Parts: sequence; C-alpha cells; structure tokens
Amino acid sequence: MTERTLVLVKPDGVERGLTGQILARVEAKGYKIVELKLVQATREILEQHYEEHQGKPFFEPLVEFMGSGPVVAAVVEGNRVIEGFRSLAGSTEPTTAPPGTIRGDLGRDWGEKVQKNLVHGSDSPESAAREIGIWFA
Ligand code: CMP
Repeated sequence: MTERTLVLVKPDGVERGLTGQILARVEAKGYKIVELKLVQATREILEQHYEEHQGKPFFEPLVEFMGSGPVVAAVVEGNRVIEGFRSLAGSTEPTTAPPGTIRGDLGRDWGEKVQKNLVHGSDSPESAAREIGIWFA
C-alpha cells in the first residue's frame, strides 16, 4: 500500500555532508521524495516532534542536539515506506546497527548522552501523519 513517511537527516548527517548519500539510498530503494527542505528546527517544533519522549533522560540532550544545526526534512512516498525506511536506517545505535543500513554503514558512536544516529523515520502511519503535519505545516 502506498504510504508516506517523514524522514529527517539529523544535524550530524547534514554536518558530515552525508545528505546526498542518504537521500540517494532512499531513491535507490525506489521511494519517491515528494517534499524536501533544509530547516533550522525551533524548540517548539522539536518538543512537538519528540512529544512521546518528554520526561526521558535523553529528551533534553536530544532537543538540544536536533536544534544544534540544520536538518533536512523530507516526505517520502512508497509501498510500505514506513517499515521500509526504518529497515534502511537500521537500529537506533550506530555501533550495532547492521552493516548495509544507513546507521550501520555511516553512523558512529560519539560517546554522548544522546544517540546521534543520522536519520529519523516515522514509526507508524499515525506518527507519519502527525510528524508531516509538524514539519510541513
Ligand atoms: P529517533 O528514533 O529518531 O527518535 C528518538 C531519538 O532519541 C533516537 O532517534 C535517538 O537519537 C535518541 N535516543 C533514543 N533512545 C535513546 C537512548 N536510550 N539514549 C540516547 N538517545 C536515545
């Protein structure tokens, strides 16, 4: 079923000049980029985006990190793209994300409180709709 997901190239990905490689992997998989922008996220956007993580120990460092530089936000479309992009991204921790995935191949452990893991992808159709509404209001 065709669906849409929100993909973010996080500040570590943009800073390291990996945006092109990351988006190329998305396109090579056959997904379509239907919206794309470079944005300096406000605290308000980030608090909304990470609503479910409020109160967790990594929430503050996460919001700080995500606001530390520009991110690339994209709406990506394709059959089962929500699950498919998460599979392309690999698991949260770059150290153990499988080789072949974005995080496994390109991510590194910075030894910090927050996992700087290059990309974000929505985890369900409900989150995708909510997150796309936040970033592409
Ligand atoms: P993402 O899945 O995009 O959204 C939540 C983010 O919080 C996650 O990526 C990581 O960047 C970060 N994160 C999740 N779990 C942890 C954790 N246990 N410790 C530090 N950072 C985390």
